[in-house]
Amino acid sequence: MSQVAIVTGGTRGIGAAISTMLKDNGFTVAAIYAGNDERARRFNEETGISVYKWDVADYEACQAGCAQVAADLGPVDVLVNNAGITRDTTMHKMTHEMWQEVIDVNLGGCFNMSHAVFGGMRERKYGRIVNIGSINGQAGQYGQVNYAAAKSGIHGFTKALAQEGARANITVNAIAPGYIDTDMVSAVPEAVLEKIIAKIPVGRLGKAPEIARGVLFLVSKDAGFVTGSTLSINGGQHMY
Ligand code: CAA
Repeated sequence: MSQVAIVTGGTRGIGAAISTMLKDNGFTVAAIYAGNDERARRFNEETGISVYKWDVADYEACQAGCAQVAADLGPVDVLVNNAGITRDTTMHKMTHEMWQEVIDVNLGGCFNMSHAVFGGMRERKYGRIVNIGSINGQAGQYGQVNYAAAKSGIHGFTKALAQEGARANITVNAIAPGYIDTDMVSAVPEAVLEKIIAKIPVGRLGKAPEIARGVLFLVSKDAGFVTGSTLSINGGQHMY
């Protein structure tokens, strides 16, 4: 029987590439999205992947949503915590709301979603969780104290949960993408982005499927000895 995978932020950007790569490799995928109905509808039409709408920052919605996915598709074997937002600005201009939103979605979402599926994975003695961190959680980034803090938190979250899951054959790993050609990165001012690209040894932005390839490896059944690790996929921009 095919394994069931949930991908948050799974209808756009890196998440869409992950959802598609998992589907193409035999997983039954539920792609979760929060707001963009039109893109989600198109993604569903183009790929046949089931889409579900809820906000990963909402604990109750994650409980109810994951229960619905399990009822529709079967018990959840794989969770990819990919949903993320930016509210970039420098510290002195950042509002408390900009801080809180990013922490709630990017880091709180990891807790809410993992909490909803971890019990079932423990009972069934199998699970694969992959959390999408960021180069900016490893190295920091000007204008991103909220995002860097949340993404850095994901790396600690990953290592702690990996220890708890290990005996139940649940692996928990992170991927730290560098700058990938997505809507999120296109929002960076052109002049700033040019300077960033100049610092990438590979000389270009990454492509979303290059991150999805790493996820596919980490969620495979024979990757059971890889846990608590962070796979950096950043074109050599930060060697950590
Ligand atoms: N280091 C040092 N100084 C910097 C700097 C840097 N990295 N970036 C900007 N500055 C300086 C500028 O030179 C400027 O100084 P001067 O006025 O003396 O020239 C000053 O800071 C203000 O810069 P801006 O004009 O850019 O200021 P702004 O208020 O208009 O914008 C900003 C600030 C929102 C942070 C903007 O620079 C920005 O969007 N930067 C990009 C942040 C970024 O990389 N975000 C990543 C998004 S993608 C993502 O997050 C995915 C992922 O995981 C990788």
